[in-house]
Amino acid sequence: MNRAVLAYSGGLDTSVTIRWLVEQGYDVVAVAVDVGQQEDFHAIRERGELAGAAEVRVVPAVDRFAGEFLARAVKANALYEGKYPLVSSLARPLIADEVVKVAREVGADAVAHGCTGKGNDQVRFEVSFGVLAPDLQVLAPIRDAGIPREKALGLAAEWGIPIAQVATAYSIDENLWGRTAEFGPLEDPWVAPPEDAFARTAATSDRPSEPTEIAVGFERGVPVMLDGDLTALPDLVRAVDALGGRYGFGRVDMIENRRVGIKSRELYEVPGALALIAAHRALEDLTLEREVAHAKPAIEQRWAELVYDGLWFSPLRTALDAFVDSTQEHVSGEVRLQFSPGECTVVGRRSDASLYDVGLATYGPEDAFDHRHAEGFIRLWGMPLKVWSARQGRR
Ligand code: ARG
Repeated sequence: MNRAVLAYSGGLDTSVTIRWLVEQGYDVVAVAVDVGQQEDFHAIRERGELAGAAEVRVVPAVDRFAGEFLARAVKANALYEGKYPLVSSLARPLIADEVVKVAREVGADAVAHGCTGKGNDQVRFEVSFGVLAPDLQVLAPIRDAGIPREKALGLAAEWGIPIAQVATAYSIDENLWGRTAEFGPLEDPWVAPPEDAFARTAATSDRPSEPTEIAVGFERGVPVMLDGDLTALPDLVRAVDALGGRYGFGRVDMIENRRVGIKSRELYEVPGALALIAAHRALEDLTLEREVAHAKPAIEQRWAELVYDGLWFSPLRTALDAFVDSTQEHVSGEVRLQFSPGECTVVGRRSDASLYDVGLATYGPEDAFDHRHAEGFIRLWGMPLKVWSARQGRR
């Protein structure tokens, strides 16, 4: 009998995929990877079994997700198109890797996913599968058999798969780093996001009016402390995300360019991710030497693009991470973040490795900057333009 291991989310498409593969004669092992989504894994297991999986496995991977993926994303200040902190993009390579591990263990001949043909996630899964397990066949029935949402709903009803709770008006993906929503009323980019599209961030009317402040401590670019207490990264991310969410901070409404060429309207709730990246940037402002600070954003943008594009398992990602890591050696210290309704503001930063020199910066009596040097510097700095200007006959 052929055996397939499926990346299982517990949603409509992947549940229908289980039964579809069973109908094709596959023995299906469904793997639900816990990357911090607010889900009832007990219900997911039950749904997978009802759909016909021979086995449903829940793989705890929150620590790995934080340590290997989110820590790197923070160090790289990773935002796709300057806005999206790569919630789904970071999780897919990890899920692919966990699926391949199970496939090896159970001697599967195929791996499977439930993505459609229009999104980025199919790209991320299949490129990752191709690197990690080129010998395994890849099955993508939702895409390849052409099962649109309406048909999937019909099949689920016909096959008695309970999807009532999961078939919402939106297509949702969620993990420790944030929550994504697309589809339904959001498909019209002119329509304001309905309040029911949000789950992790409070509506305007429910936000506390009094601001709250926290201090986030970093060690070599990675958040490690919350208000002076050493905190494991998953707990720290969860805490900052929850606090930001209470203030309704971290909503992103964007039109983005998918790898497959489609522009799409996406809604993100990413309070923790945006707050931690803002804090990390503030600490870099204090600790990175000028030329490094100016060169790094280009690398960050490339990193975000490459991860978005499904190339996590690639020599370029490793090389860019080596660059990023070498910049983080002195990015240790603390940042004060203030949350107020809809906002998160950096209000202070300090570091033992700070390059900020009060003696050089001050306008007060302790001024240690030799003002006489400025004149000669500017004379040489502007010299080429003086020569040029004279040539234009402007003198
Ligand atoms: N547009 C985002 C990305 O490509 C979110 C994708 C969410 N995935 C999903 N299956 N709903 O990373």
